[in-house]
Amino acid sequence: MGRIHQGRSHDDSKAHALSIDESVVQKTLELVRAHSRLDEETPVRPHRSPESLRETLSIELDGEAHPFDDVTDALAGLLSATPSTTSQQFFNQLFAGRDTVATMGDVLAVIANTPMYTFKAGGPQVLLERACINRMAAKVGFDPGDGIFTPGGSLSNMAALIIARNEALEGSRESGLPGARLIVYTSEECHYSVRKGAGMVGIGRGNVRFVPADEHGRMDPNALRSMMLEDRDSGAVPIMINATSGTTVQGAFDPIDQIADIASEQGVWLHVDAAWGGAVLLCESKRRLMDGVDRADSVTWDAHKLMGAPLTSAVLLTREVGVCKKHFDEAASYLYQEDDDELNPGRSSLQCGRRNDALKLWAAWKYRGDAGYDAMIRQFYALAEYTADRVREDPGMTLSHDPQYVNVCFEVNAKSSERICYELGRRQKAKVGYGIVNGRKTIRMVYANNEVTTDHVDRLLDDILAIAAELPDEDNAIEPALACSC
Ligand SMILES: Cc1ncc(COP(=O)(O)O)c(C=O)c1O
Repeated sequence: MGRIHQGRSHDDSKAHALSIDESVVQKTLELVRAHSRLDEETPVRPHRSPESLRETLSIELDGEAHPFDDVTDALAGLLSATPSTTSQQFFNQLFAGRDTVATMGDVLAVIANTPMYTFKAGGPQVLLERACINRMAAKVGFDPGDGIFTPGGSLSNMAALIIARNEALEGSRESGLPGARLIVYTSEECHYSVRKGAGMVGIGRGNVRFVPADEHGRMDPNALRSMMLEDRDSGAVPIMINATSGTTVQGAFDPIDQIADIASEQGVWLHVDAAWGGAVLLCESKRRLMDGVDRADSVTWDAHKLMGAPLTSAVLLTREVGVCKKHFDEAASYLYQEDDDELNPGRSSLQCGRRNDALKLWAAWKYRGDAGYDAMIRQFYALAEYTADRVREDPGMTLSHDPQYVNVCFEVNAKSSERICYELGRRQKAKVGYGIVNGRKTIRMVYANNEVTTDHVDRLLDDILAIAAELPDEDNAIEPALACSC
């Protein structure tokens, strides 16, 4: 291989000084190409057991120093065995594919290694992070709005819980929590991070109330109101409603306007978890699904989901300026030495040292523009509609819901959805997950990769039907106790 600057010989006990020169870039590119090369027949990579991976790959750290070439060989082995999330047959998560410009931005963010707490150390990077927050806040309808980048949607939701808790209990940020029973409301179709966060921030998992959803997966506002009144009667303190825009399984949108009426009537914090669905705000013909979101107090939105940024790129947006600073600020004379607080995002963020998760989004948005995102989201909708139509037309399959978003859930009649998904992975055909809809396990398709075409959908449905034909009959109904998808 090419020349590598090594300050010391390999045997030296000191660490090797290795700079990023042509040869290292070349080697990295080789690894990238190897990872991107996918076999037509096994597009999501061979299914391997943990035992076989441990046996054949040099995974354990033995504490020894190894030559650079050995390490790159080990990296090549690891990458070639790592499931591909960019394959057009990867539908397992709420992200897929690779946005080229965003990936470039992220690579450069790693190279620059900006810590993102101060303007002093971040320079223009903190300005472009602010530009992303401003643009997203404007799409929500917050004028001017505010926000922070977080390590993901779960932590944006957790941050919202902390803010709602502190806002409801004056002084609690300073003195801790009094004995009050605080209640959070969210639909039974919400993401698990709401309850997880409640357990983490002292509200208590048991104090999350799951509001029934209709057959389309949308929160029932009447049930919400009754539950809140009941809880108040019993002496509990409702503090937050979480409305979901784009539920994890069905892609349902809670009726935010109606929920906002209840939030203001009851005087509680309204948070909208749009980690998955926020991207509809970029799609002119669909954004009405989030009507009323400008009335929310805070909004979670993940750019690493439908906006195609590599993991992670996520924000918590707030309607009121300065809310995050009010609840998360700490002084530190060794850190904040220059510039106003607005130029030092560390004063509002959850972390101290923080990755630059904005540059990739900024680069992609510059490249695509609003119109590019609008077109991309319409393309995902078209794939979802195509899938739903194919399922509707086939008497051997049942569509589980009319898609509101880019999630399509369905069953092959009398065949286990769980086993079909498992077999798709084991036979290296595709990675697809199952999800519970109205008490039944369904195959959940999601469209988030802009390289997927209807040919890929056809291929997947054919694979699903072929596998199903080999399986024994089985019902997908689940025990009612397990019916809540969160
Ligand atoms: C509705 C919803 N909220 C929150 C999250 C959590 O987001 P993250 O994976 O970025 O923590 C997800 C993840 O799928 C989600 O679907």
